[in-house]
Amino acid sequence: MINDKKVLFSGMQATGNLTLGNYLGALKNWVKLSDEYECFYCVVDEHSITVRQDPATLRKRARALLTLYIAAGLDPEKNCIYYQSHVSGHAELAWILNCFTYMGELNRMTQFKDKSAKHADNINAGLFTYPVLMAADILLFQADVVPVGIDQKQHLEITRDIAQRFNSIYGDVFTIPEPYIGKSGARIMSLQDPSKKMSKSDENPNGSIYLMDDPDTIMRKCKRAVTDSEGHICYRDEQPGVKNLIDIYSSCTGKTPEDVEKEFDGKGYGDFKLAVGEAVVSQLKPLQEEVARLEKDKAFIDSVIKNNAEKAAYYANKTLRKVQRKVGFPDRIR
Ligand code: TYM
Repeated sequence: MINDKKVLFSGMQATGNLTLGNYLGALKNWVKLSDEYECFYCVVDEHSITVRQDPATLRKRARALLTLYIAAGLDPEKNCIYYQSHVSGHAELAWILNCFTYMGELNRMTQFKDKSAKHADNINAGLFTYPVLMAADILLFQADVVPVGIDQKQHLEITRDIAQRFNSIYGDVFTIPEPYIGKSGARIMSLQDPSKKMSKSDENPNGSIYLMDDPDTIMRKCKRAVTDSEGHICYRDEQPGVKNLIDIYSSCTGKTPEDVEKEFDGKGYGDFKLAVGEAVVSQLKPLQEEVARLEKDKAFIDSVIKNNAEKAAYYANKTLRKVQRKVGFPDRIR
């Protein structure tokens, strides 16, 4: 607990262009939960280098992502918005937790399997221990809740396992975090292949709606979305393309899938895709405008970066010192 509130932690990688999946699956829920919890929202730039990055691009994207968090409605006075690489406790705790994580557990991680298949020429140790750094992120802040999309559920499970293992040896050191997975939008699929999740790293740009796409591009991508030959707007697994569009529309408008089925009963896919496109455009427009405004305010963003890194480091160090003591590292001499 911090200031009598439960703690929330979440983060996103500063890799690639963020998609509608990132927004509907995560960021939108962050904003919803931000009043209720003491929140830490991290730009996880250390995770990003598990895949080779161009340094200038990574720096630019990290700043754009931090700006986006604020543009989405997270007030940096109330929410701690910062870069992972500015708080050394992340890497320090990750090292300790590495010594409490088994190779067998990490071998089971589906994201590691997927990413090593995709980057066969660079299967580095960081990619393998990625979930341990993620566990460190969360446990460092004693987070109670972690809002994520479904694809991160397995990483939350290993985080809980590591925390429980550590606690069973050393007493109650870590809070055991719970995932928060939203009712809608938790798994947005590719518009071109609804069996795959919408992803920043998709080679086909028509599969993903990027948060900075202009209205024409969004409308075009929605119109081209793969559906089926059934001709009914039904929310069911047998129609994965239509189901995904219903999910997108529901998440953007707040309507339930049943309401959407009723609304489009008897209508064709053309009408429906148009409505989906319009709903996405109106969802993203205010966000894009706010990003454009904030990008001009360099001094403000710089002050957020500085102040929030200090705040994050303060809480991170509290946990880190406790953990270091528990495992037997010598006390500092003041
Ligand atoms: P990342 O950067 O891949 O994604 C950020 C968030 O977006 C969600 N998401 C989706 N949700 C619905 N549909 C989709 N198609 C979709 N694609 C992505 C993700 O579930 C995630 O919530 N390992 C994490 C970053 C991380 C983290 C953390 C998250 C590092 N440390 C600590 C929470 C807590 C990742 O790569 O997310």
